[in-house]
Amino acid sequence: MESMFKIWLVMPILFLSSSYLHYCVNGKSQVPCVFIFGDSLSDSGNNNNLPSSPKSNYKPYGIDFPFGPTGRFTNGRTAVDIITQLLGFEKFIPPFANTSGSDILKGVNHASGGAGIRNETSKVTGFVISLGLQLTNHRVIVSQIAGRLGSLEKAQQYLNKCLYYVNIGSNDYINNYFRPQLYPTSHIYSPQQYAEALIQELSLNLLALHDIGARKYVLVGLGRLGCIPNAISNHGTDGSCVDEENAPPFIFNVELKSLVDHFNYKFSADSKFIFINSTLESDGQDGFFVSNAPCCPLRLIGGCIPDERPCYNRSEYVFWDAFHPSEAWNLLTATRSYNSPNSGFTSPMDIKQLVEQETKMELESTNEITSKLSASS
Ligand SMILES: *[C@@H]1O[C@H](CO)[C@@H](O)[C@H](O)[C@H]1NC(C)=O
Ligand SMILES: *[C@@H]1O[C@H](CO)[C@@H](O)[C@H](O)[C@H]1NC(C)=O
Ligand SMILES: *[C@@H]1O[C@H](CO)[C@@H](O)[C@H](O)[C@H]1NC(C)=O
Ligand SMILES: *[C@@H]1O[C@H](CO)[C@@H](O)[C@H](O)[C@H]1NC(C)=O
Repeated sequence: MESMFKIWLVMPILFLSSSYLHYCVNGKSQVPCVFIFGDSLSDSGNNNNLPSSPKSNYKPYGIDFPFGPTGRFTNGRTAVDIITQLLGFEKFIPPFANTSGSDILKGVNHASGGAGIRNETSKVTGFVISLGLQLTNHRVIVSQIAGRLGSLEKAQQYLNKCLYYVNIGSNDYINNYFRPQLYPTSHIYSPQQYAEALIQELSLNLLALHDIGARKYVLVGLGRLGCIPNAISNHGTDGSCVDEENAPPFIFNVELKSLVDHFNYKFSADSKFIFINSTLESDGQDGFFVSNAPCCPLRLIGGCIPDERPCYNRSEYVFWDAFHPSEAWNLLTATRSYNSPNSGFTSPMDIKQLVEQETKMELESTNEITSKLSASS
Protein backbone atom coordinates (compact mmCIF):
# COMPACT_ATOMS: atom_id res chain seq x y z
CA MET A 1 0.00 0.00 0.00
CA GLU A 2 2.73 2.35 1.01
CA SER A 3 4.86 1.64 -2.06
CA MET A 4 1.83 1.96 -4.31
CA PHE A 5 1.28 5.37 -2.84
CA LYS A 6 4.88 6.29 -3.49
CA ILE A 7 4.62 5.28 -7.13
CA TRP A 8 1.53 7.37 -7.56
CA LEU A 9 3.32 10.24 -5.93
CA VAL A 10 6.48 9.89 -7.99
CA MET A 11 4.74 9.48 -11.32
CA PRO A 12 2.91 12.79 -11.33
CA ILE A 13 6.00 14.62 -10.12
CA LEU A 14 8.06 13.14 -12.94
CA PHE A 15 5.32 13.95 -15.38
CA LEU A 16 5.09 17.46 -14.09
CA SER A 17 8.80 18.10 -14.16
CA SER A 18 9.35 16.55 -17.57
CA SER A 19 6.51 17.96 -19.56
CA TYR A 20 4.99 20.65 -17.46
CA LEU A 21 7.08 22.53 -14.96
CA HIS A 22 9.89 23.52 -17.27
CA TYR A 23 7.89 25.29 -19.85
CA CYS A 24 4.61 25.69 -18.08
CA VAL A 25 5.64 27.32 -14.84
CA ASN A 26 3.35 30.22 -15.60
CA GLY A 27 0.24 28.38 -16.69
CA LYS A 28 1.31 27.38 -20.17
CA SER A 29 4.23 29.53 -21.28
CA GLN A 30 7.00 27.77 -23.20
CA VAL A 31 9.73 29.43 -21.13
CA PRO A 32 9.34 30.47 -17.49
CA CYS A 33 10.49 34.04 -18.06
CA VAL A 34 11.50 36.67 -20.60
CA PHE A 35 13.87 39.57 -19.97
CA ILE A 36 13.79 42.42 -22.44
CA PHE A 37 16.55 44.93 -23.23
CA GLY A 38 16.23 47.70 -25.77
CA ASP A 39 14.73 50.98 -26.88
CA SER A 40 11.35 52.41 -27.85
CA LEU A 41 10.62 49.42 -30.08
CA SER A 42 10.18 47.42 -26.85
CA ASP A 43 9.62 49.99 -24.07
CA SER A 44 6.35 49.46 -22.20
CA GLY A 45 6.46 52.33 -19.72
CA ASN A 46 9.98 52.74 -18.34
CA ASN A 47 10.25 56.35 -19.54
CA ASN A 48 6.89 57.51 -18.19
CA ASN A 49 8.22 59.09 -15.02
CA LEU A 50 11.74 59.92 -16.11
CA PRO A 51 12.62 63.59 -16.52
CA SER A 52 12.88 64.82 -20.13
CA SER A 53 12.78 61.35 -21.69
CA PRO A 54 10.99 60.46 -24.90
CA LYS A 55 7.37 59.77 -23.92
CA SER A 56 4.41 57.96 -25.39
CA ASN A 57 2.01 57.63 -22.45
CA TYR A 58 -0.64 59.81 -24.05
CA LYS A 59 -3.26 59.39 -26.74
CA PRO A 60 -3.28 58.46 -29.55
CA TYR A 61 -0.46 56.05 -28.50
CA GLY A 62 -2.07 52.88 -27.23
CA ILE A 63 -5.46 53.45 -28.84
CA ASP A 64 -5.53 49.80 -29.93
CA PHE A 65 -3.97 48.51 -26.70
CA PRO A 66 -6.30 46.90 -24.15
CA PHE A 67 -5.19 49.32 -21.40
CA GLY A 68 -4.86 52.46 -23.55
CA PRO A 69 -1.65 54.54 -23.48
CA THR A 70 1.01 52.80 -21.33
CA GLY A 71 4.30 54.15 -22.63
CA ARG A 72 4.40 51.85 -25.66
CA PHE A 73 5.53 53.74 -28.76
CA THR A 74 2.84 52.37 -31.06
CA ASN A 75 -0.92 52.12 -31.38
CA GLY A 76 -1.16 48.62 -29.89
CA ARG A 77 1.26 45.87 -28.93
CA THR A 78 5.00 45.98 -29.54
CA ALA A 79 6.68 43.10 -31.38
CA VAL A 80 8.00 41.62 -28.13
CA ASP A 81 4.53 41.87 -26.54
CA ILE A 82 3.27 39.66 -29.35
CA ILE A 83 6.23 37.30 -29.06
CA THR A 84 5.55 36.79 -25.34
CA GLN A 85 1.91 36.03 -26.18
CA LEU A 86 3.04 33.49 -28.79
CA LEU A 87 5.22 31.98 -26.07
CA GLY A 88 2.08 31.47 -24.01
CA PHE A 89 2.31 34.27 -21.45
CA GLU A 90 -1.06 35.50 -20.29
CA LYS A 91 0.20 38.86 -19.04
CA PHE A 92 2.62 41.29 -20.61
CA ILE A 93 6.12 41.39 -19.11
CA PRO A 94 6.09 44.34 -16.66
CA PRO A 95 8.38 47.36 -17.19
CA PHE A 96 11.25 47.63 -14.69
CA ALA A 97 9.78 50.97 -13.51
CA ASN A 98 6.60 49.24 -12.36
CA THR A 99 7.58 45.83 -11.05
CA SER A 100 6.40 46.30 -7.50
CA GLY A 101 3.60 43.86 -6.94
CA SER A 102 4.14 42.11 -10.25
CA ASP A 103 5.74 38.73 -10.63
CA ILE A 104 9.37 39.40 -11.57
CA LEU A 105 9.93 35.63 -11.81
CA LYS A 106 8.16 35.81 -15.17
CA GLY A 107 10.55 38.45 -16.43
CA VAL A 108 11.08 42.19 -16.59
CA ASN A 109 11.17 44.67 -19.45
CA HIS A 110 14.20 46.99 -19.16
CA ALA A 111 13.76 48.72 -22.53
CA SER A 112 13.78 52.53 -22.59
CA GLY A 113 12.73 54.81 -25.45
CA GLY A 114 15.77 56.57 -26.91
CA ALA A 115 18.26 54.13 -25.41
CA GLY A 116 21.33 53.01 -27.27
CA ILE A 117 24.27 50.68 -26.84
CA ARG A 118 26.46 53.74 -26.30
CA ASN A 119 25.98 55.77 -23.14
CA GLU A 120 25.94 59.12 -24.90
CA THR A 121 23.27 58.13 -27.43
CA SER A 122 20.17 60.39 -27.11
CA LYS A 123 21.75 62.24 -24.15
CA VAL A 124 21.45 65.56 -25.98
CA THR A 125 17.67 65.26 -26.12
CA GLY A 126 16.91 63.78 -22.70
CA PHE A 127 17.57 61.16 -20.07
CA VAL A 128 17.33 57.55 -21.23
CA ILE A 129 18.24 54.20 -19.68
CA SER A 130 21.15 53.14 -21.88
CA LEU A 131 22.04 49.46 -22.27
CA GLY A 132 24.68 49.70 -19.52
CA LEU A 133 22.10 51.07 -17.07
CA GLN A 134 19.62 48.38 -18.12
CA LEU A 135 22.26 45.84 -17.08
CA THR A 136 22.67 47.64 -13.76
CA ASN A 137 18.89 47.48 -13.25
CA HIS A 138 18.90 43.82 -14.21
CA ARG A 139 21.41 43.03 -11.47
CA VAL A 140 18.89 44.43 -9.00
CA ILE A 141 16.25 42.07 -10.41
CA VAL A 142 18.60 39.08 -10.28
CA SER A 143 19.36 39.68 -6.62
CA GLN A 144 15.63 39.99 -5.89
CA ILE A 145 15.05 36.68 -7.67
CA ALA A 146 17.89 35.12 -5.67
CA GLY A 147 16.17 36.39 -2.53
CA ARG A 148 12.90 34.77 -3.56
CA LEU A 149 14.40 31.43 -4.63
CA GLY A 150 16.76 31.17 -1.66
CA SER A 151 20.20 31.51 -3.25
CA LEU A 152 22.11 33.00 -6.14
CA GLU A 153 22.81 29.49 -7.40
CA LYS A 154 19.11 28.63 -7.57
CA ALA A 155 18.46 31.95 -9.28
CA GLN A 156 21.10 31.13 -11.91
CA GLN A 157 19.59 27.71 -12.57
CA TYR A 158 16.20 29.32 -12.98
CA LEU A 159 17.46 32.16 -15.19
CA ASN A 160 19.25 29.66 -17.46
CA LYS A 161 15.80 28.69 -18.78
CA CYS A 162 14.66 32.23 -19.53
CA LEU A 163 14.63 34.01 -22.85
CA TYR A 164 16.71 37.19 -23.22
CA TYR A 165 15.41 39.45 -25.95
CA VAL A 166 17.81 42.22 -27.00
CA ASN A 167 16.70 44.77 -29.60
CA ILE A 168 18.95 47.81 -29.49
CA GLY A 169 21.17 49.92 -31.75
CA SER A 170 18.72 51.99 -33.84
CA ASN A 171 19.28 55.07 -31.67
CA ASP A 172 23.05 54.73 -31.93
CA TYR A 173 22.41 55.69 -35.56
CA ILE A 174 19.26 57.86 -35.50
CA ASN A 175 20.18 59.77 -32.33
CA ASN A 176 23.94 59.69 -32.66
CA TYR A 177 25.81 58.70 -35.84
CA PHE A 178 23.31 60.37 -38.20
CA ARG A 179 23.39 63.65 -36.23
CA PRO A 180 26.86 65.06 -36.84
CA GLN A 181 25.89 68.49 -35.46
CA LEU A 182 25.27 66.95 -32.04
CA TYR A 183 27.56 63.90 -31.86
CA PRO A 184 31.14 63.47 -33.10
CA THR A 185 30.93 59.74 -33.90
CA SER A 186 30.60 60.09 -37.68
CA HIS A 187 33.79 62.17 -37.72
CA ILE A 188 35.65 59.62 -35.64
CA TYR A 189 34.46 56.34 -37.16
CA SER A 190 33.81 55.02 -40.63
CA PRO A 191 30.50 53.09 -40.89
CA GLN A 192 32.43 49.83 -40.65
CA GLN A 193 34.43 50.98 -37.60
CA TYR A 194 31.30 52.32 -35.92
CA ALA A 195 29.41 49.04 -36.42
CA GLU A 196 32.39 47.15 -34.99
CA ALA A 197 32.61 49.49 -31.99
CA LEU A 198 28.89 49.03 -31.30
CA ILE A 199 29.08 45.26 -31.62
CA GLN A 200 32.11 45.20 -29.34
CA GLU A 201 30.25 47.11 -26.64
CA LEU A 202 27.10 45.02 -27.15
CA SER A 203 29.09 41.81 -26.86
CA LEU A 204 30.55 42.91 -23.50
CA ASN A 205 27.01 43.44 -22.24
CA LEU A 206 25.90 40.04 -23.57
CA LEU A 207 28.83 38.42 -21.78
CA ALA A 208 27.89 40.26 -18.58
CA LEU A 209 24.37 38.88 -18.98
CA HIS A 210 25.81 35.40 -19.42
CA ASP A 211 27.66 35.83 -16.10
CA ILE A 212 24.35 36.46 -14.38
CA GLY A 213 22.45 33.56 -15.89
CA ALA A 214 21.46 34.26 -19.51
CA ARG A 215 21.70 31.25 -21.83
CA LYS A 216 19.07 31.81 -24.52
CA TYR A 217 19.39 35.01 -26.50
CA VAL A 218 17.27 36.57 -29.22
CA LEU A 219 19.33 39.32 -30.87
CA VAL A 220 17.32 41.55 -33.15
CA GLY A 221 19.01 43.32 -36.05
CA LEU A 222 18.24 46.87 -37.15
CA GLY A 223 15.53 47.77 -39.63
CA ARG A 224 15.88 49.81 -42.78
CA LEU A 225 16.55 53.08 -40.95
CA GLY A 226 16.75 55.03 -44.21
CA CYS A 227 13.10 54.09 -44.90
CA ILE A 228 11.49 55.43 -41.73
CA PRO A 229 9.24 58.46 -42.30
CA ASN A 230 11.60 60.65 -40.22
CA ALA A 231 14.55 59.95 -42.53
CA ILE A 232 12.40 60.43 -45.63
CA SER A 233 11.04 63.79 -44.47
CA ASN A 234 14.44 65.01 -43.16
CA HIS A 235 16.04 64.35 -46.53
CA GLY A 236 13.09 65.45 -48.63
CA THR A 237 13.41 62.42 -50.86
CA ASP A 238 9.80 62.49 -51.97
CA GLY A 239 8.83 59.25 -50.32
CA SER A 240 11.73 57.05 -51.28
CA CYS A 241 14.28 55.56 -48.87
CA VAL A 242 17.49 57.38 -47.95
CA ASP A 243 20.22 55.02 -49.13
CA GLU A 244 23.01 56.57 -47.06
CA GLU A 245 21.01 55.86 -43.89
CA ASN A 246 20.22 52.30 -44.87
CA ALA A 247 23.82 51.27 -45.50
CA PRO A 248 25.50 51.83 -42.06
CA PRO A 249 22.92 49.81 -40.05
CA PHE A 250 23.19 47.04 -42.64
CA ILE A 251 26.87 46.73 -41.69
CA PHE A 252 25.80 46.53 -38.05
CA ASN A 253 23.48 43.65 -38.99
CA VAL A 254 26.24 41.74 -40.76
CA GLU A 255 28.46 42.16 -37.70
CA LEU A 256 25.65 41.17 -35.33
CA LYS A 257 25.00 38.01 -37.32
CA SER A 258 28.67 37.05 -37.17
CA LEU A 259 28.66 37.73 -33.42
CA VAL A 260 25.76 35.28 -33.13
CA ASP A 261 27.73 32.68 -35.10
CA HIS A 262 30.82 33.33 -33.00
CA PHE A 263 28.94 33.04 -29.68
CA ASN A 264 27.10 29.89 -30.79
CA TYR A 265 30.49 28.33 -31.43
CA LYS A 266 32.16 29.70 -28.29
CA PHE A 267 29.26 28.78 -25.97
CA SER A 268 28.07 25.67 -27.82
CA ALA A 269 28.07 23.73 -24.56
CA ASP A 270 25.68 25.95 -22.68
CA SER A 271 24.07 28.75 -24.68
CA LYS A 272 22.09 29.48 -27.83
CA PHE A 273 21.91 32.75 -29.72
CA ILE A 274 19.66 33.64 -32.62
CA PHE A 275 19.71 36.61 -35.00
CA ILE A 276 16.51 38.18 -36.33
CA ASN A 277 16.84 39.99 -39.65
CA SER A 278 14.55 43.02 -39.36
CA THR A 279 15.13 44.47 -42.80
CA LEU A 280 11.83 43.12 -44.05
CA GLU A 281 9.98 45.48 -46.37
CA SER A 282 6.39 45.53 -47.49
CA ASP A 283 5.99 43.96 -50.93
CA GLY A 284 2.67 45.70 -51.53
CA GLN A 285 0.89 42.32 -51.62
CA ASP A 286 0.71 41.96 -47.86
CA GLY A 287 -2.05 44.50 -47.17
CA PHE A 288 0.29 47.36 -46.29
CA PHE A 289 -0.57 50.13 -48.71
CA VAL A 290 1.34 52.95 -46.97
CA SER A 291 4.96 52.23 -46.14
CA ASN A 292 6.61 55.66 -46.10
CA ALA A 293 4.22 57.88 -44.13
CA PRO A 294 3.07 57.88 -40.51
CA CYS A 295 -0.47 57.09 -39.40
CA CYS A 296 -0.70 59.73 -36.68
CA PRO A 297 -0.26 63.49 -37.27
CA LEU A 298 3.25 64.45 -36.12
CA ARG A 299 4.86 66.97 -33.85
CA LEU A 300 8.16 68.45 -35.01
CA ILE A 301 10.23 65.81 -33.20
CA GLY A 302 8.41 62.95 -34.88
CA GLY A 303 6.08 61.77 -32.11
CA CYS A 304 2.30 61.87 -32.43
CA ILE A 305 0.53 65.16 -31.61
CA PRO A 306 -1.38 64.55 -28.36
CA ASP A 307 -5.07 63.78 -28.81
CA GLU A 308 -5.01 64.19 -32.59
CA ARG A 309 -7.03 61.69 -34.54
CA PRO A 310 -4.81 59.09 -36.26
CA CYS A 311 -5.46 57.55 -39.67
CA TYR A 312 -8.54 55.41 -39.88
CA ASN A 313 -7.08 52.42 -41.73
CA ARG A 314 -4.01 51.91 -39.54
CA SER A 315 -3.59 48.22 -40.24
CA GLU A 316 -2.61 49.26 -43.78
CA TYR A 317 0.27 51.39 -42.47
CA VAL A 318 3.76 50.09 -41.80
CA PHE A 319 4.47 53.11 -39.58
CA TRP A 320 2.50 54.50 -36.68
CA ASP A 321 4.60 57.66 -36.11
CA ALA A 322 7.79 58.97 -37.74
CA PHE A 323 9.95 56.24 -36.14
CA HIS A 324 7.86 53.31 -34.96
CA PRO A 325 6.01 50.56 -36.74
CA SER A 326 2.27 50.06 -36.33
CA GLU A 327 0.90 47.13 -34.36
CA ALA A 328 -0.07 45.54 -37.67
CA TRP A 329 3.55 45.55 -38.80
CA ASN A 330 4.71 44.37 -35.37
CA LEU A 331 2.34 41.43 -35.71
CA LEU A 332 3.98 40.47 -39.00
CA THR A 333 7.57 40.69 -37.70
CA ALA A 334 6.75 39.04 -34.36
CA THR A 335 5.03 36.10 -36.05
CA ARG A 336 7.97 35.60 -38.39
CA SER A 337 10.48 35.90 -35.55
CA TYR A 338 8.58 33.25 -33.63
CA ASN A 339 7.89 30.83 -36.43
CA SER A 340 9.56 30.94 -39.83
CA PRO A 341 11.81 27.93 -40.16
CA ASN A 342 14.42 28.08 -42.94
CA SER A 343 13.20 31.45 -44.16
CA GLY A 344 16.45 33.36 -43.76
CA PHE A 345 14.50 35.75 -41.56
CA THR A 346 15.95 34.14 -38.44
CA SER A 347 19.35 32.51 -38.06
CA PRO A 348 20.25 29.80 -37.26
CA MET A 349 16.68 29.09 -36.07
CA ASP A 350 13.46 30.84 -35.08
CA ILE A 351 12.29 31.52 -31.52
CA LYS A 352 9.97 28.51 -31.52
CA GLN A 353 12.83 26.18 -32.38
CA LEU A 354 15.09 27.89 -29.85
CA VAL A 355 12.55 27.20 -27.15
CA GLU A 356 11.81 23.65 -28.29
CA GLN A 357 15.49 22.77 -28.42
CA GLU A 358 15.88 23.70 -24.82
CA THR A 359 12.81 21.66 -24.01
CA LYS A 360 14.31 18.64 -25.75
CA MET A 361 17.51 19.04 -23.75
CA GLU A 362 15.52 19.20 -20.55
CA LEU A 363 13.42 16.20 -21.55
CA GLU A 364 16.58 14.22 -22.23
CA SER A 365 17.95 14.97 -18.79
CA THR A 366 14.59 14.07 -17.26
CA ASN A 367 14.52 10.81 -19.22
CA GLU A 368 17.98 10.08 -17.88
CA ILE A 369 16.74 10.58 -14.34
CA THR A 370 13.70 8.40 -15.05
CA SER A 371 15.81 5.56 -16.42
CA LYS A 372 18.22 5.80 -13.50
CA LEU A 373 15.29 5.62 -11.11
CA SER A 374 13.79 2.54 -12.82
CA ALA A 375 17.23 0.87 -13.01
CA SER A 376 17.76 1.27 -9.29
CA SER A 377 14.30 -0.07 -8.30
C1 LIG B 1 1.76 49.01 -12.68
O1 LIG B 1 1.50 47.65 -12.38
C2 LIG B 1 0.24 47.41 -11.78
C3 LIG B 1 0.15 45.96 -11.36
O2 LIG B 1 0.93 45.11 -12.13
C4 LIG B 1 -0.85 47.82 -12.78
O3 LIG B 1 -2.13 47.60 -12.22
C5 LIG B 1 -0.69 49.30 -13.14
O4 LIG B 1 -1.61 49.66 -14.12
C6 LIG B 1 0.71 49.57 -13.63
N1 LIG B 1 0.91 50.99 -13.79
C7 LIG B 1 1.46 51.51 -14.88
C8 LIG B 1 1.62 52.99 -14.88
O5 LIG B 1 1.80 50.83 -15.83
C1 LIG C 1 28.37 53.24 -19.74
O1 LIG C 1 27.61 53.25 -18.56
C2 LIG C 1 27.69 52.04 -17.81
C3 LIG C 1 26.68 52.10 -16.68
O2 LIG C 1 26.73 53.31 -16.00
C4 LIG C 1 29.12 51.86 -17.32
O3 LIG C 1 29.23 50.67 -16.58
C5 LIG C 1 30.05 51.79 -18.54
O4 LIG C 1 31.38 51.72 -18.13
C6 LIG C 1 29.86 53.02 -19.44
N1 LIG C 1 30.58 52.78 -20.68
C7 LIG C 1 31.39 53.67 -21.21
C8 LIG C 1 32.06 53.27 -22.48
O5 LIG C 1 31.58 54.77 -20.71
C1 LIG D 1 18.76 40.37 -44.17
O1 LIG D 1 17.84 40.14 -45.20
C2 LIG D 1 18.08 40.92 -46.35
C3 LIG D 1 16.93 40.70 -47.33
O2 LIG D 1 16.68 39.35 -47.49
C4 LIG D 1 19.45 40.53 -46.94
O3 LIG D 1 19.73 41.31 -48.08
C5 LIG D 1 20.52 40.77 -45.87
O4 LIG D 1 21.76 40.30 -46.34
C6 LIG D 1 20.17 40.05 -44.58
N1 LIG D 1 21.12 40.49 -43.55
C7 LIG D 1 21.88 39.63 -42.88
C8 LIG D 1 22.83 40.23 -41.90
O5 LIG D 1 21.81 38.43 -43.01
C1 LIG E 1 -5.91 54.34 -46.26
O1 LIG E 1 -5.45 55.67 -46.02
C2 LIG E 1 -4.59 56.23 -47.00
C3 LIG E 1 -4.12 57.59 -46.55
O2 LIG E 1 -5.21 58.36 -46.08
C4 LIG E 1 -5.30 56.30 -48.35
O3 LIG E 1 -4.41 56.77 -49.34
C5 LIG E 1 -5.80 54.92 -48.71
O4 LIG E 1 -6.54 54.98 -49.91
C6 LIG E 1 -6.66 54.33 -47.60
N1 LIG E 1 -7.04 52.98 -47.95
C7 LIG E 1 -8.30 52.55 -47.91
C8 LIG E 1 -8.55 51.16 -48.35
O5 LIG E 1 -9.22 53.27 -47.53
